[in-house]
Amino acid sequence: MAEIRFDNRVAIVTGAGGGLGRTYSLELARRGAKVVVNDLGGAPDGTGGSSRAADLVVEEIKKQDGQAVASYDSVADDKGAQAIVDKAVEAFGRVDILINNAGILRDKTFHKMDWADFEAVLKVHLYGAYNVTRPALVKMRENNYGRVVLTTSAAGLFGNFGQTNYSSAKLGIVGFMNTLKLEGAKYNINVNTVAPIAATRLTEGLFPPDIGKQLKPEFIAPLVLYLCSEDCQVTGRIYDAGMSGFRRTGILTGKTVVVAKGDKVPLPEEVKNRMAEIASLDGAEEFENATNMFGAVIEAFSQADSGESGAAGLSVADVFDQMPKHFQADQAAGVDVVFQYCIEGDSGGEWQVMVKDQKCEVQSGKHGSPTTTIKMGEQDFLDLIGGKLPAMQAYTSGKLKIEGDMMKSQLIEKLFKF
Ligand code: NAI
Repeated sequence: MAEIRFDNRVAIVTGAGGGLGRTYSLELARRGAKVVVNDLGGAPDGTGGSSRAADLVVEEIKKQDGQAVASYDSVADDKGAQAIVDKAVEAFGRVDILINNAGILRDKTFHKMDWADFEAVLKVHLYGAYNVTRPALVKMRENNYGRVVLTTSAAGLFGNFGQTNYSSAKLGIVGFMNTLKLEGAKYNINVNTVAPIAATRLTEGLFPPDIGKQLKPEFIAPLVLYLCSEDCQVTGRIYDAGMSGFRRTGILTGKTVVVAKGDKVPLPEEVKNRMAEIASLDGAEEFENATNMFGAVIEAFSQADSGESGAAGLSVADVFDQMPKHFQADQAAGVDVVFQYCIEGDSGGEWQVMVKDQKCEVQSGKHGSPTTTIKMGEQDFLDLIGGKLPAMQAYTSGKLKIEGDMMKSQLIEKLFKF
């Protein structure tokens, strides 16, 4: 395994006086980086301050023959943030790596959350990321190289009771990364985000004591160090890490459901009818940028316009409403059948389709003695009607279940053409 090294690289780690930031700094220095150990040295809620936290980490690094300088400025203050970057340039001549890690907590349920607590948390996490990254990025662009790691949290990605301030800041950081990755790409500046889970003073009392050992910040550092390295070619990703377990979190978007075409404004009722499809994440995609995302919407419209079938864009209820219109009377000579449809899903239901005397009648509900009963999931049914799912394939894969007179089911394709 080729060792990941940071010789001649200069790293800034914010909030490095304790917890995760301390570990990142020690590990970076151990592998050759020159480190600016920044920490305000305040309480977990951001009040107070002391040079001691950063100084102790710098001492530790020096003891292991590493190179480091301390910085006590607050990331929440733009002048302080500029001073952090200036310190790196003065001490070591450049900036290659920035880990935005400083953080505070001021948990309160939302109705009790006053502006001061909301703002203080945004100022450290989100504005802090802006304040330090901007001057650092200017330096990275000069060298055509940079690695930025941001810190988010499950609270921002998924929500956590009592943390509207923290969640807002932490998801804001993801938005910050999403655009910065695009602007940095040309200059070989990669920007990624980590969502850690570790036992630190910020999570005191949160984890059961028996798993404490695996929750040490040391277990997060390997991922963060890799993201800071030249070997790392990915950008714009969110990874979560804890207890030596790592995984990627993504923002996914489902398939566009074209509810109305052209100038027609869809009705809320039409949206309601299609809600199962709209809510589905089947075939969901991840987009590199907003333009690609919009492109997929346009593509969905052009596919719908190319009219793979007259059923494209219909809901299950629409299909049954329109069945008499698509009935092929000339194919129905001598046919006398009742098809019972049982469609499962939010927009599903039961419909009976009666064919007799070359006429077709459709009613919702259950028939007393159907000739053939067809059972399907809503999306499979729409795919079948839309011509995307061949009947034989649906049957053999178990997506289409037929009860009663199996042979008569074969008439359906002949009798109805969408
Ligand atoms: P920690 O409290 O040990 O470390 C945070 C450090 O940031 C402290 O040393 C603090 O003095 C420093 N700091 C606070 N405000 C500052 C400011 N304005 N300027 C400079 N330094 C400042 O906590 P921990 O857990 O190591 O947190 C590191 C980061 O990881 C934070 O951004 C936190 O939100 C995030 N995080 C931690 C999780 C965990 O499980 N420990 C979970 C999710 C996210």
